[in-house]
Amino acid sequence: NEGSLWGSRFASGPSPELQELSRSTHFDWQLTPYDLAGSRAHANALHRAGLLTDADHAELLRGLSALGERYDAGNLLPAPGDEDVHGALERLLLEEVGPEVGGRLRAGRSRNDQVATLFRAYLRDHARTIARLVLDLVDVLAGQAGEHLAPGQETVMPGRTHLQHAQPVLLSHHLLAHAWPLLRDVDRLRDWDARVACDSPYGSGALAGQTLGLDPEAVAAELGFTGSSANSIDGTSSRDFAAEFAFVTAQVGVDLSRLAEEVILWTTREFDFATLHDSWSTGSSIMPQKKNPDIAELARGKSGRLIGNLAGLMATLKGLPLAYNRDLQEDKEPVFDSVRTLEVLLPAMTGMVATLTFNSPRMAELAPQGFSLATDVAEWLVREGVPFRDAHELAGACVRRCEELGCDLPDLTDEQLAEISPALTPEVRTVLSVEGSVGSRSGRGGTAPDRVRAQLDEVRTATTGH
Ligand code: ARG
Repeated sequence: NEGSLWGSRFASGPSPELQELSRSTHFDWQLTPYDLAGSRAHANALHRAGLLTDADHAELLRGLSALGERYDAGNLLPAPGDEDVHGALERLLLEEVGPEVGGRLRAGRSRNDQVATLFRAYLRDHARTIARLVLDLVDVLAGQAGEHLAPGQETVMPGRTHLQHAQPVLLSHHLLAHAWPLLRDVDRLRDWDARVACDSPYGSGALAGQTLGLDPEAVAAELGFTGSSANSIDGTSSRDFAAEFAFVTAQVGVDLSRLAEEVILWTTREFDFATLHDSWSTGSSIMPQKKNPDIAELARGKSGRLIGNLAGLMATLKGLPLAYNRDLQEDKEPVFDSVRTLEVLLPAMTGMVATLTFNSPRMAELAPQGFSLATDVAEWLVREGVPFRDAHELAGACVRRCEELGCDLPDLTDEQLAEISPALTPEVRTVLSVEGSVGSRSGRGGTAPDRVRAQLDEVRTATTGH
């Protein structure tokens, strides 16, 4: 069994069926740069422990660099007989530096501590990339919010609950409501990283640690970790770091899908709140007039895939006894897929949101409709000393009167208001406008223009702080 990592104990090589089932190079090959970095740090540890001569050490480092250059140039590929990236790279290293020197590198390590470290290192890099892409989307949401906050011309819209008109809000306020969850996702990636950073499994060996006097802390530091695993069994067998990462990517997917669903609604003829830029929308092969929100729909759809990756991974991990089990080879594909999905999806969402144009007159026209100012009437009465239960009743009576008359709240005459209750003096009109309603919600977090401007500053500070 030429090139295999074992053999002497076996009278025959693996069957083709086993090899076919076992092989993971078609997805773990992308770990190559991390495997080579791990091997470099491990060679240094062996050298420091006196287990490699200066010459062998230098030759191993040269061989590893040569493999790295070939990988970068696209000239390093696994062979069909290679089981995984670790075995393939050992075979290639032996070809590069010869079996005598190359055969020394595997001392004191196992593929179990190797893969557990490399997977963490790979995800830490991609966590940074994804955080940056999420912040790009937050930036364009903030940019759109800023454009619709020009003093005196703030864009208003119908705020909804249950998808029904509820209370008027500023468009900027609504857009920033999508920015905050994304900022929390970036925070989640940050604190996930802090947990993973201090837990480099290199040095854990197959499960029980190593006998060769290697220094796992030094290896960890060389690989950009702040510390090594405190427990070699845990270090090689736990994958909660992968599940947690898959959760954060699924949460980003869910957050994107909520924004996506709104874009899909807003660009319908019925809503007509927004128009997609031609470069960020698609046509139909049969209906010449169509302009479809495919990016938003794909975001909505791919959130299902991201959730599925999380659920599948957790099902794989459930009930696994300690320590390493081969089931764990199934940990990588779902998470790699989630990484790739977000790294492709996020830039498309960012472009779509950045180029969306809003139909401000249409939103302003709809903002006061559906009796969305009824709460303002009730709260105005409260400020006039009426108990809220009575105020709620009176405002409800106004709505019923409007429905009878086929008009909206601002259309009620002074006499009609007075008939409902003498407490409803003509002064109530100060809140019977969208501007009055929006302006009066001036407490922290509210939709009053100055509040939203302050909130936008908070978002911008949070973005630059990251
Ligand atoms: N390719 C394996 C994985 O991804 C690592 C190899 C460990 N295999 C083993 N037989 N101990 O989990």
